[in-house]
Amino acid sequence: MVEESRADLVVVGAGVAGLTAALTAAARGLTVTVLTKGRTWAQPGAEHSASTFYAQGGIAVVEPGNPGDSVALHLADTLAAGAGLTDPVATEPILAGGWPAVTQLVGWGAEFDLGADGRFLRTREGGHSVRRIIHAGGDATGARVQQALASAVAAAPIRVIDHASATAILTGDGRAAGLEFVTAGGRGVVRAPAVLLATGGLGHVYSATTNPAASTGDGVALALRAGAQVADLEFVQFHPTMLYVPGARGRRTLVSEAVRGEGGVLVDDHGAPVTAGVHPQGDLAPRDVVARAVTAAMRRTGRPHVWLDISGVEDFERRFPTVTAGVRASGLDLAGGRLPVVPGAHYLCGGVVTDSHGRTSVPGLLAAGEVARTGLHGANRLASNSLLEGLVMGRSAALAAVELAAVEPPRVPACAPPVLPACDRIELQDAMSEAAALDRNAEGLASVGALLEAAPLRGLATVADIEDANLTLAARAVVAAALERRESRGCHYRSDFPGSEEAPQPRYFALVEGRMRS
Ligand code: FAD
Ligand code: SIN
Repeated sequence: MVEESRADLVVVGAGVAGLTAALTAAARGLTVTVLTKGRTWAQPGAEHSASTFYAQGGIAVVEPGNPGDSVALHLADTLAAGAGLTDPVATEPILAGGWPAVTQLVGWGAEFDLGADGRFLRTREGGHSVRRIIHAGGDATGARVQQALASAVAAAPIRVIDHASATAILTGDGRAAGLEFVTAGGRGVVRAPAVLLATGGLGHVYSATTNPAASTGDGVALALRAGAQVADLEFVQFHPTMLYVPGARGRRTLVSEAVRGEGGVLVDDHGAPVTAGVHPQGDLAPRDVVARAVTAAMRRTGRPHVWLDISGVEDFERRFPTVTAGVRASGLDLAGGRLPVVPGAHYLCGGVVTDSHGRTSVPGLLAAGEVARTGLHGANRLASNSLLEGLVMGRSAALAAVELAAVEPPRVPACAPPVLPACDRIELQDAMSEAAALDRNAEGLASVGALLEAAPLRGLATVADIEDANLTLAARAVVAAALERRESRGCHYRSDFPGSEEAPQPRYFALVEGRMRS
């Protein structure tokens, strides 16, 4: 029995991008259905399914009239971090849209940390030339943002389907016409003229990540199977300071870059500074630079991690309650004044190619947030630009959905394939971590590529099966892009091509007859 419904907009994902879009569209009179693999708000003791909930450092945003900062300076920092592939034309309006978007978020109930003068407190993170990152609850920014959005959605005429996994985009007459999903109760179809992918990232393509378990590349896989273009997938950002826990797999605690912004220092096992002589911004250089410096220090010392010395951070537990809780939950403590850290898979800089309104190459199919590739992040995202992008582009995608609402979607039959190629998850994660992480070369990429291409067909009986198929396709797309980029740039380092091309170009891929083609 397949449950069928109709909406003007169906949103896949209940993080910052999906919920912002849902609220914006509902406020304009659209009927909106939101699907999430988890719930909009946290269940006690359970992991949240949205990366948004775990965001720590904050939101990079320029307040108009601030004499020490400007959108032009924010743009310059974003372009520098993006290592030649950030598109300035797409980026400027996203950054400029940050202030109205944060103002709207405050209107939905988000409360940020304020100074004695009643203005936002601001911290600094890698690649930012000034303190421009606003935060909430110290380092609980994401949880506060998620809470505000979830409460606003609960009060709005928006249908939310919890614990639902979208399994396929319905397409007909060359356009998106809705989607199929599964829940514990069975299968369902939502027919809609606008389908928004807001599914977050793909951290679980690797064996250790800062991302929640739901980040299995579903949006990239759904979009590819629907015929949409993707780009910049080779640029998977590794955060320099994920808490090191011997032998741990899956989601691990992040130690916010803001810790370094507030005086934390990266040192190796002998106490030597990790980024000395590497970059003028030292520990606060762009993330790709610091992550590679950490890896180099680990190689030099033969140790499985470096240390983040937090002894100079004032009132650490009060300022960083989320990190403190994560450290304790991992069985470690703060008493020694230093934390063991390693780089960890953190953020997908590329994704499903969109225009400035979240429109993909498939009419009716929209994408926003981490799953989308707007041109903002280029080869390396500037810290704390992601929540900003989710807010701004979630709204823009909703406005695109308003335009689409008059379209009658073609009535096409349900289409979720019964079997798909799916690797064993652990094997896939280990192979990707070995050959397609911070240090890549043609031989390693070809070998992981062969493993992925040989994935056996699997019947999609469970959500885990569907996720494994999505991880397999998303990993194939990352590897295809990494093989094709024969240079090193931003998050993509090729030991066999350590230099950079003079005129870098984005590379676009699509799934054609089951193969990744550029
Ligand atoms: P998410 O918030 O990841 O939400 C994805 C949603 O999609 C979830 O609801 C999930 O259940 C749903 N979903 C996925 N697949 C399916 C499917 N098949 N069917 C149905 N639902 C599906 N960025 C910043 O700007 N500042 C920070 O301080 C910051 N700190 C971070 C700290 C951590 C630990 C992490 C992991 C990320 C951090 N980031 C930060 C990045 C940022 O949080 C994310 O990029 C951003 O929140 C992504 O938002 P999103 O709405 O695109 O996706
Ligand atoms: C952090 O707090 O270090 C994460 C910030 C980000 O990923 O933007």
